[in-house]
Amino acid sequence: MNEVLRMIESRRSIRKFTDQPVDQETLTLLMKAAMAAPTAMNAQPWEFVVITEKPVIERLRKHMMFGKMNATAVICVLGSRRKQKNKAGDLFWVQDCSAATQNILLAATSLGLGAVWVGVYPIFIFQQTVSAILNLPERVTPLNLIYLGYPDEVKEPRTKYDPERVHWGPFPKDTRRKLFKKFRKRQELIIEEDIESNGSENTGNDH
Ligand SMILES: Cc1cc2nc3c(=O)[nH]c(=O)nc-3n(C[C@H](O)[C@H](O)[C@H](O)COP(=O)(O)O)c2cc1C
Repeated sequence: MNEVLRMIESRRSIRKFTDQPVDQETLTLLMKAAMAAPTAMNAQPWEFVVITEKPVIERLRKHMMFGKMNATAVICVLGSRRKQKNKAGDLFWVQDCSAATQNILLAATSLGLGAVWVGVYPIFIFQQTVSAILNLPERVTPLNLIYLGYPDEVKEPRTKYDPERVHWGPFPKDTRRKLFKKFRKRQELIIEEDIESNGSENTGNDH
């Protein structure tokens, strides 16, 4: 297996960290990996907040229901309307910023770090909490928090490969029609039952 594929399978959600801090040089490598991600129409609708200040991390840990891990660094990935290079970002920012997030996770793994993606958007209360703690400006939306550090737990590399999720080529042509027929049959049944129980001929169709 080549190095990239090995890293993809080695990336696991790490939720326990040692006290060893992550230095700025390493964090810069992660930012470079993030901004190597593809984006729709190359809009790059992102900004990143890199946090190593203990009190700020503690505040996030205290207030984020699913973000209690003892990380030594946290990266907040922001969708940014104020920095995006064109309007494609309005539509595609979640996908663009998710691609950047995965790049960070993979780069972190390759550098011997552990990390976990903590979802923020689209849970409004999480967005408000993160915005307040990080003093976020207008026209940015926190997509997630990436908790980072040197791992204090070991997880085996793995894929969740399931051949039944893979369709080699299009679905058979009649799949959609069958679905439609099934739906129509069910509707007819519901209407019949309705007539029987109400003793009425009214199907809700006025014409
Ligand atoms: C959108 C998204 C949100 C997630 N949010 C959380 C979270 O709030 N807390 C957490 O511990 N893990 C979170 N995770 C990590 C998943 O729980 C994890 O990826 C999944 O259990 C599979 O495990 P693995 O990453 O080791 O393959 C999130 C992952 C994604 C992609």
